[in-house]
Amino acid sequence: MGDNRQGPVYRSSTTAPVNIAVIKYWGKRDATLNLPTNSSLSVTLSQASLRTHTTASCSAHYAAHEGDSLLLNGSAEPIQHSPRTQACLGQLRSLRSSLEASDPSLPKLSGLPLHIVSTNNFPTAAGLASSAAGFAALVRSIADLYALPQSATELSRIARQGSGSACRSLMGGYVAWRAGSAADGSDSLADEVAPPAHWPQMRALVLVVSAAKKHLPSTAGMQVTVKTSSLFPTRADVVVPRRMQNMEQAIRARDFDAFARLTMQDSNGFHAVCLDSWPPIAYLNDVSRAAVRVVEAINQQSTDAGAGLLAAYTFDAGPNAVVYYLERDTERVAGVFRALLGNERVEGWEGSYGQDIKPAEMEELATLDEKAVETLRAGVSRVICTGVGGGPEKVDSHLVDERGEPVWE
Ligand code: DP6
Repeated sequence: MGDNRQGPVYRSSTTAPVNIAVIKYWGKRDATLNLPTNSSLSVTLSQASLRTHTTASCSAHYAAHEGDSLLLNGSAEPIQHSPRTQACLGQLRSLRSSLEASDPSLPKLSGLPLHIVSTNNFPTAAGLASSAAGFAALVRSIADLYALPQSATELSRIARQGSGSACRSLMGGYVAWRAGSAADGSDSLADEVAPPAHWPQMRALVLVVSAAKKHLPSTAGMQVTVKTSSLFPTRADVVVPRRMQNMEQAIRARDFDAFARLTMQDSNGFHAVCLDSWPPIAYLNDVSRAAVRVVEAINQQSTDAGAGLLAAYTFDAGPNAVVYYLERDTERVAGVFRALLGNERVEGWEGSYGQDIKPAEMEELATLDEKAVETLRAGVSRVICTGVGGGPEKVDSHLVDERGEPVWE
C-alpha cells in the first residue's frame, strides 16, 4: 500500500500460467454464463516460460468518472464494453462488499475504481492463447487485493465467466474443469486432479507456427460447432465423459502411453467436429500436419521396438502444435524436433528447458518423409520448451507504482 496526498493506493500482484488442454473444452450450453457442454482437463505450463503478470490496484484518488481501467501490454482495453470482464469485476466486488459488511473495520475497497495493469512475457503475435492466463491473473490479483477468503475452486467460477479455459489456470499441475449441470453454473468449477509434484516429469514443446491467415476465434467457432455438427452431440455426451475418466486414471497412474493416446484422440476428435461444422472450421494447416507426422514417426519407432508411445501432439483453435513427452525421452522427442528444425530456421529454442536439448542422431527415423521435414522447417517460427508447472503466484513486483501510475517493465 502506498500513501500520497490523495490517499493510499492499494495494490496486489500475481503471475498466472497458461494451460493446454488434453481433453478439450469445445461448446457452450450457456454463452452468457460461459457454461460448457462437456468437462475438460489440462496441464498447467511452467510460468518460467509463459505467464501473465498482473497488478490490481484501487484508490480513492482514481477519478471516479473514469471508472475501472485495464492496461494490457501497454494499451488501454475497452473493458467497459466487455461483458465478460464486467462479470468478473462485478462478482469480485460483491464478495468484497459482503466482507466489508461483516467487518466494518475493513477499508471500503469495493466502492473504489480499479486500475489493472497486465503484461505477458510472450508476444501476443505468437498466437498462444493468452486469455486463460490473463483472466486467471485478473481474478487472482483482485481476489488478493480484496483479501477474499474464497478458494481457487470457488474463484474458478468467476474466472470461467472471463474465458472458459481461464478457470483451469487458477491451479497448477493437472486440472479438470467439471462441466456441472446446474442452470446457474454454480457447479461448473475447476479442481486439481494432481499437483505438479505428482508427475513433474511432464514436458511440453510449443511449436509456434507462423500463420498468415487469422483463424476463427474459439468463442465463435464453438457456437458454430454446437449448432451445426452432427458428430458433436456424441462427442459431448458420450465420448468426452468416458475419456475424462480414462485420462484422470492415466494421470493418477502416471501412465504416459494412455495419456498420450487419449490426448491425441481428443485433439483429433475436437478438430473432427470442427471440420464437421457448417461452414467447416479448419484450424490445422500443413505445418501442423507435418508436426503430427514427426510425432507419429517417433512413436512408430518406439512401438516397433515394443515400447509405449513417447510423444503426444495436441492443437487448440489454431495451427500451433503442443507436444507432450516425459523428461526421460527428451532426446528422443525434443531432440528429434531440434535436429529437424536446426537453429537456422527458428529464432531459438526458448523456455525453461530449452538449453538442455541436444539434437538427436537422425538416421534412426526411417519413417519420416523429407516433405514433412521441409514443411516443418519453413513453418515453425519459435519453439518454447516447457513443462508442467504451478498455479498463480503472489509477487512483490508491482506494475502500478505507489502513486497509482503504471510501471513500464
Ligand atoms: C480449443 O476458453 O478461449 O483452447 O470460453 O469462449 O473464452 P471462451 O473460450 P476459450 O476456449 C478454449 C478452447 C480450446 C480448448 C481448451 O482450452 O479446452
